Amino acid sequence: MKVSASFLSSHNIPNDLIRLDHTDLDFIHVDVMDGKFVSNKTLPFREMRHISDYTSKRLDVHLMVANPSKYIPLYAELNCEYITFHVEVLENIEEDLKLIHDYSIKCGLAIKPDTKVSSLIPYLPYLDLILVMSVEPGEGGQEFISSSKDKIREVRDLIDSYHLNILINVDGGVNDKTISMCRDSDMVVAGSYIIRGDDFQEKISSLR
Ligand code: DX5
Ligand code: ZN
Repeated sequence: MKVSASFLSSHNIPNDLIRLDHTDLDFIHVDVMDGKFVSNKTLPFREMRHISDYTSKRLDVHLMVANPSKYIPLYAELNCEYITFHVEVLENIEEDLKLIHDYSIKCGLAIKPDTKVSSLIPYLPYLDLILVMSVEPGEGGQEFISSSKDKIREVRDLIDSYHLNILINVDGGVNDKTISMCRDSDMVVAGSYIIRGDDFQEKISSLR
């Protein structure tokens, strides 16, 4: 199981990023919120760009924004493995996925808990990753929605039925208890579970 750490709930981002750099963590999950797609807003890019000064890990960028094409060129400057945006934006999805690939970065689509898995079907040929949201996007520290277990299975079946090589990532409320519901995924994002612990490596190892 690959693990990506979200620093959304961090009170000291530089310090936590440096500590995470000393673990075997796979990716740093960068939550980007525009105050439109979700009501919360994260730091502007001119401040966010400095995260790369504190980590050598590759980034897994999660755009919770209404207009991905505005943000993709900015985040593409950083050390990104994946850039993911939401299928619920509805417009320009194909173009924006191609835009991510134009920067030689892998692309992903995220789905909110109430969105049907079938909404991903038109975009499957372009995808490297599907991000199953196991909480409503917008804030860290929420409880894992247990029906996400079936949703992850449904996404797995969809990928297999088309014989595609797409990674499944799960985001929201992941901890040492809820990880058992994520066994059909390839990767999980954990925020508060890792950041609010003393021993980051122990927390990460418990999710593998
Ligand atoms: C929720 C974010 C998540 C969140 C994960 O909108 O996309 O990445 O920060 O944090 P936890 O693990 O605390 O739910
Ligand atoms: Zn996220």
